Amino acid sequence: MSEFDELRLTAESCTRCPLAATRTNVVFGAGRPDSELMFVGEAPGRNEDLEGVPFVGRAGQLLDQLLDEVGIERETVYIANVLKCRPPNNRDPQPHEIDACKGYLRSQIRLIHPRVVVTLGNFATKLLLNTTTGITRLRGRAYPWWLGASLIPTFHPAAALRGKPAVLESMRADFRLMREAIDASRAAEAAESEAQPESVPEQATLWR
Ligand code: URA
Repeated sequence: MSEFDELRLTAESCTRCPLAATRTNVVFGAGRPDSELMFVGEAPGRNEDLEGVPFVGRAGQLLDQLLDEVGIERETVYIANVLKCRPPNNRDPQPHEIDACKGYLRSQIRLIHPRVVVTLGNFATKLLLNTTTGITRLRGRAYPWWLGASLIPTFHPAAALRGKPAVLESMRADFRLMREAIDASRAAEAAESEAQPESVPEQATLWR
Protein backbone atom coordinates (compact mmCIF):
# COMPACT_ATOMS: atom_id res chain seq x y z
CA MET A 1 0.00 0.00 0.00
CA SER A 2 1.29 3.49 -0.81
CA GLU A 3 2.21 5.93 1.95
CA PHE A 4 -0.64 8.12 0.72
CA ASP A 5 -3.20 5.31 1.11
CA GLU A 6 -1.81 4.51 4.57
CA LEU A 7 -2.25 8.15 5.54
CA ARG A 8 -5.84 8.07 4.32
CA LEU A 9 -6.59 4.93 6.33
CA THR A 10 -5.12 6.47 9.47
CA ALA A 11 -7.17 9.65 8.98
CA GLU A 12 -10.34 7.65 8.37
CA SER A 13 -10.23 6.21 11.88
CA CYS A 14 -8.93 9.40 13.55
CA THR A 15 -10.15 10.31 17.04
CA ARG A 16 -7.66 13.11 17.75
CA CYS A 17 -10.39 15.70 18.34
CA PRO A 18 -14.06 15.73 19.43
CA LEU A 19 -15.29 16.15 15.82
CA ALA A 20 -14.78 12.39 15.50
CA ALA A 21 -17.92 11.91 17.61
CA THR A 22 -20.22 14.00 15.40
CA ARG A 23 -18.96 13.26 11.88
CA THR A 24 -20.67 10.94 9.43
CA ASN A 25 -17.57 10.52 7.24
CA VAL A 26 -13.99 11.68 7.36
CA VAL A 27 -13.43 13.86 4.29
CA PHE A 28 -9.77 13.13 3.68
CA GLY A 29 -9.50 14.67 0.21
CA ALA A 30 -10.13 13.82 -3.43
CA GLY A 31 -8.30 13.85 -6.71
CA ARG A 32 -4.93 12.80 -8.05
CA PRO A 33 -2.25 12.20 -5.44
CA ASP A 34 0.35 13.14 -8.10
CA SER A 35 -1.33 16.39 -9.08
CA GLU A 36 0.55 19.59 -9.93
CA LEU A 37 -2.21 21.63 -8.35
CA MET A 38 -3.72 21.36 -4.90
CA PHE A 39 -6.59 23.27 -3.29
CA VAL A 40 -7.02 23.63 0.44
CA GLY A 41 -10.43 24.64 1.77
CA GLU A 42 -11.70 25.09 5.31
CA ALA A 43 -13.75 22.11 6.50
CA PRO A 44 -16.42 19.75 5.20
CA GLY A 45 -19.99 21.04 5.19
CA ARG A 46 -23.17 19.01 5.40
CA ASN A 47 -23.05 17.49 1.91
CA GLU A 48 -19.35 16.72 2.19
CA ASP A 49 -19.86 15.03 5.57
CA LEU A 50 -22.63 12.86 4.10
CA GLU A 51 -20.69 11.89 0.98
CA GLY A 52 -17.13 11.82 2.31
CA VAL A 53 -15.97 14.00 -0.61
CA PRO A 54 -14.78 17.65 -0.45
CA PHE A 55 -16.56 20.50 -2.22
CA VAL A 56 -19.62 18.68 -3.52
CA GLY A 57 -22.12 21.42 -2.62
CA ARG A 58 -22.70 24.85 -4.20
CA ALA A 59 -19.22 26.08 -3.31
CA GLY A 60 -17.86 23.02 -5.12
CA GLN A 61 -19.87 23.80 -8.24
CA LEU A 62 -18.38 27.30 -8.30
CA LEU A 63 -14.91 25.86 -7.84
CA ASP A 64 -15.52 23.57 -10.84
CA GLN A 65 -16.69 26.54 -12.92
CA LEU A 66 -13.65 28.66 -12.05
CA LEU A 67 -11.37 25.74 -12.90
CA ASP A 68 -13.16 25.23 -16.19
CA GLU A 69 -12.63 28.89 -17.10
CA VAL A 70 -8.86 28.40 -16.98
CA GLY A 71 -9.00 25.05 -18.79
CA ILE A 72 -8.50 22.70 -15.84
CA GLU A 73 -10.69 19.71 -14.92
CA ARG A 74 -11.40 18.83 -11.30
CA GLU A 75 -10.28 15.22 -11.91
CA THR A 76 -6.72 16.43 -12.55
CA VAL A 77 -6.27 18.35 -9.29
CA TYR A 78 -6.23 17.40 -5.60
CA ILE A 79 -8.67 18.98 -3.14
CA ALA A 80 -8.36 18.85 0.64
CA ASN A 81 -9.44 20.85 3.66
CA VAL A 82 -7.79 22.15 6.82
CA LEU A 83 -10.21 20.02 8.85
CA LYS A 84 -11.11 16.53 7.72
CA CYS A 85 -14.32 16.39 9.79
CA ARG A 86 -17.37 18.64 9.77
CA PRO A 87 -17.75 21.12 12.62
CA PRO A 88 -21.35 20.91 13.90
CA ASN A 89 -23.66 23.43 12.17
CA ASN A 90 -20.73 24.54 10.00
CA ARG A 91 -19.25 26.65 12.77
CA ASP A 92 -15.68 27.93 12.40
CA PRO A 93 -12.85 25.47 12.98
CA GLN A 94 -11.45 25.82 16.52
CA PRO A 95 -7.71 26.22 17.16
CA HIS A 96 -7.44 22.84 18.95
CA GLU A 97 -9.17 21.12 16.01
CA ILE A 98 -6.79 22.72 13.53
CA ASP A 99 -3.82 21.68 15.68
CA ALA A 100 -5.08 18.11 15.90
CA CYS A 101 -5.68 17.87 12.15
CA LYS A 102 -2.87 19.84 10.53
CA GLY A 103 -0.44 16.93 10.46
CA TYR A 104 -2.65 15.16 7.89
CA LEU A 105 -2.63 18.19 5.61
CA ARG A 106 1.12 18.61 5.97
CA SER A 107 1.67 14.96 4.99
CA GLN A 108 -0.75 15.26 2.07
CA ILE A 109 1.16 18.24 0.71
CA ARG A 110 4.53 16.55 1.22
CA LEU A 111 3.42 13.40 -0.62
CA ILE A 112 1.56 15.18 -3.44
CA HIS A 113 4.37 17.71 -3.84
CA PRO A 114 2.35 20.05 -6.08
CA ARG A 115 3.75 22.94 -8.11
CA VAL A 116 0.99 25.25 -6.90
CA VAL A 117 -1.16 25.28 -3.75
CA VAL A 118 -4.28 27.45 -3.74
CA THR A 119 -5.71 28.28 -0.33
CA LEU A 120 -9.43 29.01 -0.29
CA GLY A 121 -10.34 31.52 2.40
CA ASN A 122 -8.90 32.70 5.69
CA PHE A 123 -8.45 29.45 7.58
CA ALA A 124 -6.33 27.68 4.99
CA THR A 125 -4.39 30.83 4.11
CA LYS A 126 -3.55 31.76 7.69
CA LEU A 127 -2.49 28.20 8.52
CA LEU A 128 -0.29 27.65 5.48
CA LEU A 129 1.27 31.12 5.39
CA ASN A 130 1.58 31.12 9.18
CA THR A 131 0.10 34.58 9.46
CA THR A 132 -2.76 36.44 11.10
CA THR A 133 -3.18 38.78 8.11
CA GLY A 134 -6.55 38.42 6.40
CA ILE A 135 -7.24 37.05 2.93
CA THR A 136 -8.29 40.39 1.43
CA ARG A 137 -4.79 41.77 1.99
CA LEU A 138 -2.93 38.59 1.08
CA ARG A 139 -4.65 37.58 -2.15
CA GLY A 140 -3.68 38.72 -5.65
CA ARG A 141 -0.13 37.39 -5.68
CA ALA A 142 1.85 34.15 -5.55
CA TYR A 143 4.08 33.42 -2.55
CA PRO A 144 7.20 31.25 -2.88
CA TRP A 145 6.47 28.44 -0.45
CA TRP A 146 7.43 25.06 0.97
CA LEU A 147 9.05 22.34 -1.21
CA GLY A 148 9.51 24.79 -4.08
CA ALA A 149 5.76 25.26 -4.55
CA SER A 150 3.99 28.58 -5.06
CA LEU A 151 1.13 29.39 -2.75
CA ILE A 152 -1.74 31.45 -4.12
CA PRO A 153 -4.34 32.64 -1.62
CA THR A 154 -7.84 33.42 -2.78
CA PHE A 155 -11.31 33.86 -1.33
CA HIS A 156 -13.40 30.88 -0.33
CA PRO A 157 -16.00 30.09 -3.03
CA ALA A 158 -18.73 30.40 -0.37
CA ALA A 159 -17.66 34.05 0.07
CA ALA A 160 -18.16 34.62 -3.66
CA LEU A 161 -21.62 33.04 -3.45
CA ARG A 162 -22.62 35.32 -0.57
CA GLY A 163 -20.63 38.41 -1.50
CA LYS A 164 -20.49 41.14 -4.09
CA PRO A 165 -19.60 40.38 -7.74
CA ALA A 166 -16.15 41.88 -7.03
CA VAL A 167 -15.30 38.83 -4.88
CA LEU A 168 -15.93 36.51 -7.82
CA GLU A 169 -13.91 38.77 -10.14
CA SER A 170 -10.99 38.67 -7.68
CA MET A 171 -11.21 34.88 -7.63
CA ARG A 172 -11.13 34.83 -11.43
CA ALA A 173 -7.96 36.93 -11.39
CA ASP A 174 -6.39 34.58 -8.81
CA PHE A 175 -7.27 31.53 -10.92
CA ARG A 176 -5.56 33.12 -13.92
CA LEU A 177 -2.51 33.74 -11.75
CA MET A 178 -2.64 30.08 -10.69
CA ARG A 179 -2.71 28.96 -14.33
CA GLU A 180 0.31 31.19 -15.08
CA ALA A 181 2.20 29.87 -12.04
CA ILE A 182 1.67 26.25 -13.16
CA ASP A 183 2.81 27.05 -16.71
CA ALA A 184 5.86 28.98 -15.44
CA SER A 185 6.85 26.13 -13.11
CA ARG A 186 6.58 23.59 -15.94
CA ALA A 187 8.65 25.81 -18.25
CA ALA A 188 11.33 26.34 -15.59
CA GLU A 189 11.58 22.58 -15.01
CA ALA A 190 11.82 21.88 -18.74
CA ALA A 191 14.57 24.50 -19.16
CA GLU A 192 16.47 23.04 -16.22
CA SER A 193 16.35 19.47 -17.48
CA GLU A 194 17.50 20.66 -20.92
CA ALA A 195 20.47 22.46 -19.36
CA GLN A 196 21.48 19.43 -17.26
CA PRO A 197 20.47 16.07 -18.71
CA GLU A 198 19.43 13.84 -15.81
CA SER A 199 21.62 10.91 -16.72
CA VAL A 200 24.57 10.42 -19.03
CA PRO A 201 23.44 8.44 -22.10
CA GLU A 202 24.48 4.81 -21.78
CA GLN A 203 26.68 4.89 -24.91
CA ALA A 204 28.73 7.78 -23.56
CA THR A 205 29.54 5.95 -20.34
CA LEU A 206 31.44 3.31 -22.38
CA TRP A 207 34.03 5.87 -23.34
CA ARG A 208 34.81 7.21 -19.91
N1 URA B 1 -16.24 24.28 2.14
C1 URA B 1 -14.99 23.87 2.43
O1 URA B 1 -14.17 24.62 2.91
N2 URA B 1 -14.68 22.63 2.15
C2 URA B 1 -15.52 21.78 1.60
O2 URA B 1 -15.14 20.65 1.37
C3 URA B 1 -16.82 22.24 1.28
C4 URA B 1 -17.16 23.49 1.57
